[in-house]
Amino acid sequence: MEGKKITVQDILTMKGKRKITMLTAYDYPLASLIDKAGIDMILVGDSLANVVLGLDSTTKVGMTEMIHHAKAVTRAVKHALVVGDMPYDSYQVLPTGKQVTSDESVKNARRFIEEAKCDVVKLEWFDRCLEVTEQIIKAGIAVMGHIGLTPQTADKIGGFKVQGKDAEAAQRLIEQSVQLEKLGCFSIVLECVPDKIAEMITKKIKIPTIGIGAGVNCDGQVLVTHDLLGLFERFTPKFVKKYINLSPLITKAIEEYRDEVIRGKFPAAEHSFGIKEEELKKLR
Ligand code: KIV
Repeated sequence: MEGKKITVQDILTMKGKRKITMLTAYDYPLASLIDKAGIDMILVGDSLANVVLGLDSTTKVGMTEMIHHAKAVTRAVKHALVVGDMPYDSYQVLPTGKQVTSDESVKNARRFIEEAKCDVVKLEWFDRCLEVTEQIIKAGIAVMGHIGLTPQTADKIGGFKVQGKDAEAAQRLIEQSVQLEKLGCFSIVLECVPDKIAEMITKKIKIPTIGIGAGVNCDGQVLVTHDLLGLFERFTPKFVKKYINLSPLITKAIEEYRDEVIRGKFPAAEHSFGIKEEELKKLR
């Protein structure tokens, strides 16, 4: 797969053959590093709100910010499939409280593809999810579903909690996944779902499941890159593995810089530009 741009078809074909990898990115430098590392899909997630913009809810990030950051990511990516995460105000509810219509949702999905050059979009499950997803797919845009813990509507599902913990709730998740597959979604994120339920869903549907807090038996995994790198210190969910803790390393480097500037140790001669002595003499 290396070297060539990954397509939706490639992702579908990977099911059952090898695990699919996905990470979030919101800017050019990290997107470039993630792409070079050979990750299959890069999600420009609305987690941008929490991990980059310092907001307390993903519902507070809108189309303007998402398109701006998605453009930076797609400028960097040559290989991975780029997933534009549709923000709350693009297909659910506007800041005025008005519902976003299906037509407006399709227009917003199209902006991710045409303006920001994303390859596909992702939508979280909500009460009108099927109707909106159907319209976007009919408009020729590939959609990744997202069920289980859906942060944009966390207040309606009992908060930031594992979903599908009893038979009835698990059955609802299974039905949602089947409905999204029937509509033509090319994959589904399962967030905070018991591992056995995620495994049942993964076996039941033909499209790949991408887990986050959903155990090892999904077809693929996604993490928020800032969590994996130790760049987000406000809280660490149970499902996160920090592969490196960059925050203290960055703080140490910045403290060293501060100290060297104050002591006149930086910039040294090798960081400075000279002028010929004869030119200086003319000034004197
Ligand atoms: O926005 C995001 O980062 C996400 C992932 C948690 C799947 O939706």
